[in-house]
Amino acid sequence: MAHEQLAIAGGVPIRTAPWPAWPVWDEREERQLLETLRSGRWGMIGGGKVRAFEEAWAAFQQAGHCVCVVNGTAALEVALRAIGVGPGDEVIVPPYTFIATPAAALLVGAVPVFADIDPETYELDVATVQAAITPRTRAIVPVHVAGCPPDMDGILAIAAEHGLRVVEDAAQAHGAAWRGRRVGALGDLGTFSFQASKNLNAGEGGAIVTDDEELYQRVWSLHNVGRAQTPGWRTSGSYRHEILGFNYRMTEFQAAILLAQLTRLEEQMACREAGAAYLDRALGEVPGIRPLRRDPRVTSHAHHLYVFRYDALAFGGHPREEFLAALRAEGVPCGPGYVPLHHAPAIRSEVTALCRRLGRTDDPLACHLPVAERAGYDEGVWLTQNLLLADAGDLANIPRAIEKIREAWGE
Ligand SMILES: Cc1ncc(COP(=O)(O)O)c(C=O)c1O
Repeated sequence: MAHEQLAIAGGVPIRTAPWPAWPVWDEREERQLLETLRSGRWGMIGGGKVRAFEEAWAAFQQAGHCVCVVNGTAALEVALRAIGVGPGDEVIVPPYTFIATPAAALLVGAVPVFADIDPETYELDVATVQAAITPRTRAIVPVHVAGCPPDMDGILAIAAEHGLRVVEDAAQAHGAAWRGRRVGALGDLGTFSFQASKNLNAGEGGAIVTDDEELYQRVWSLHNVGRAQTPGWRTSGSYRHEILGFNYRMTEFQAAILLAQLTRLEEQMACREAGAAYLDRALGEVPGIRPLRRDPRVTSHAHHLYVFRYDALAFGGHPREEFLAALRAEGVPCGPGYVPLHHAPAIRSEVTALCRRLGRTDDPLACHLPVAERAGYDEGVWLTQNLLLADAGDLANIPRAIEKIREAWGE
């Protein structure tokens, strides 16, 4: 036999060839990095490559302003501080997201309150957001999970009705658009991550975008140790600190890579859209597999992840973890995705301690969020974005591998 290891579903694995590598880079990144190195300007404020990328990123996301920061978590923290979220406030977040979303609320002393996700899209569910609002609620943080905007019309309408701020966590949503408008500045502020796995990446990095001039000035000050961007601040205002800010500045090296990465983002986006459309069609025909539904108002999906739902009943009752192992053994890298964060020990202990300090006797985490729990524990299957850069011939291995497993398990 050509392969030493039999696949779990029997026979040889469907795929042994590698999938497209990530990150993608070439002489564009080399040129940018060398230029930065040789310039000796490795850290700059208000000029250089960071400023060039901020301008390019604001234009790309159709936002008035952009400020780059060290990572997506700091971007969320700065955004929440900029809108004045503080101790005792509540921030509504989905439980099906990266830990940074609720952690940022905790970092500013606010209580993350979880609202469930929609069973068809896995994005924040507007009806449960409405139900989670209390007199303490200050902001909603919709997350564009997998690169797909949630119902932003519904979320913005609820926010307007209740006088709440909206911070879009667009860490995974580079280039995503809702009804023709790119995400980030649909709400008050939007945040991005450029961490290594992201569709636009510099190893680490983050950005905040907004259309609001006043919020932009506040964000800029918060990321630059509380300095105000007044004329001549470099000469006379370097050690004047108007508010308590932090050093969350991005380096020129990160911006250099981002400028190079940005030159191929549109092309990669088109490729991911085509790959995801193919998988939607092909996997949609496999009994027991349901791709997530795409709201027609999502006019551009960033496909940071490709997520589908697994129904064990159609696979002889084999639980998701066994399916994932079998799919990996067929040469298709995949994972179970997020564990719902209202159950995460890190969040539970922090929220408990915070509530005690605030003198709250209720438990904001005593909630049952059935959709997120089903997605996180039983149903959700993740493929990473680099697979979508493969051509349709290669992607056909995915439905083939799944069909093989289903047949082996006797359905
Ligand atoms: C939805 C979401 N929010 C926030 C972050 C935090 O970004 P970073 O890792 O750059 O701090 C991430 C990163 O994975 C994310 O996926």
